[in-house]
Amino acid sequence: MNSIKILQMTLIYLRRLSVFFFSLIVIIACTTCCTAQEANKGLKDYYQSYFPIGVAVSPSSLTSDEASLIKTNFNSLTPENVMKMEVIHPKESVYNWKPADAIVAFAQKNNMKVRGHTLIWHNQTPNWIFKDTQTGKQVSVSKEVLLQRIKEHITQVVSHFKGKVYAWDVVNEAISDNPKEFYRNSKYMEICGEEFIFKAFQWAHEADPNAVLFYNDYNEISPTKRAKIITLINKLKAAGIPINAIGLQSHWAVDQPNKEQLKATLNDFSKLGLKIQITELDMSVYPKEHQARERRAEDLDTSFSAEREEKQIEQYKMCFKMFRKYKDVISGVTFWNISDRCSWLDNFPVQNRKDYPLLFDRNLSPKKAYSEVIKF
Ligand code: GLA
Repeated sequence: MNSIKILQMTLIYLRRLSVFFFSLIVIIACTTCCTAQEANKGLKDYYQSYFPIGVAVSPSSLTSDEASLIKTNFNSLTPENVMKMEVIHPKESVYNWKPADAIVAFAQKNNMKVRGHTLIWHNQTPNWIFKDTQTGKQVSVSKEVLLQRIKEHITQVVSHFKGKVYAWDVVNEAISDNPKEFYRNSKYMEICGEEFIFKAFQWAHEADPNAVLFYNDYNEISPTKRAKIITLINKLKAAGIPINAIGLQSHWAVDQPNKEQLKATLNDFSKLGLKIQITELDMSVYPKEHQARERRAEDLDTSFSAEREEKQIEQYKMCFKMFRKYKDVISGVTFWNISDRCSWLDNFPVQNRKDYPLLFDRNLSPKKAYSEVIKF
């Protein structure tokens, strides 16, 4: 073999070696990059082609260690309390915008949607709205005055967030749980009758014609309650009231809804021709109870046992599979609270009974149920 041949062969060998190493580097880089991308993915990314995934937050959560979890996993925010009337409009002439503005600013900065919650609700409502200010007496205002105050509240709040809040829960929980009653008995209903519901939608629409307007309620899986909600929506539609969507709060538990109940619920509501959102999702690890009650001896064990965990995984899996099936009609799924660190279910229906209803644990790590929800 002459020296030229040896040189040629060495060159070929070196070229092959460099191709091999180059390919190896590319493969390693791709794998590392994909793993990093995978690690940065959150719920919102897995559901990108389905619907936005939201969470109910307080302003303080946005400056805490929960903030990065929120940014990674969610692309929609609902203020848990600070847009409710008792916070945002505590006195007739006082509006408290700051806490809600902070949530909206965080959402804008991080490219998230904001759902407004809630304009008219019988709870967390300041008493001044029902009282006569002229006489100072503790008597109820007239229907005319109350409607005027509702109009003022809705107009101010919706206008303040116009273009920043894309959707509003205009009326929350106006339907009764009592099978013998249609509407819930509330101060609003007592003074105005059903007209406050109709007018609320009309005034919200006038203040922001682009906002998506929701009627929001709970226990929608009960056929009796669902039928009443559907009747109300049909009444609003027949009267030409601008209602665009229906919010199913979805405060559920490991034992309900079952698959058939959930399917029937989504099926019935989807026939209305309105969008549906799951607006306040959580999944208690205890069997569903509707009434608040004292803690009893059998409530002693509040551990997140393997059995409770397993049931919750199955329930979350079933629900999200069904949500995906109804993706054409579901325009958002929002969790009520961020992690098991803190949930309203820690005190409802049983005071001081720890619950674990969300997809992140108390250390903000994804639970096994999370892995099942993104596995499809
Ligand atoms: C209802 C309300 C929410 C919240 C929950 C419980 O579902 O719509 O704003 O108060 O109850 O915390």
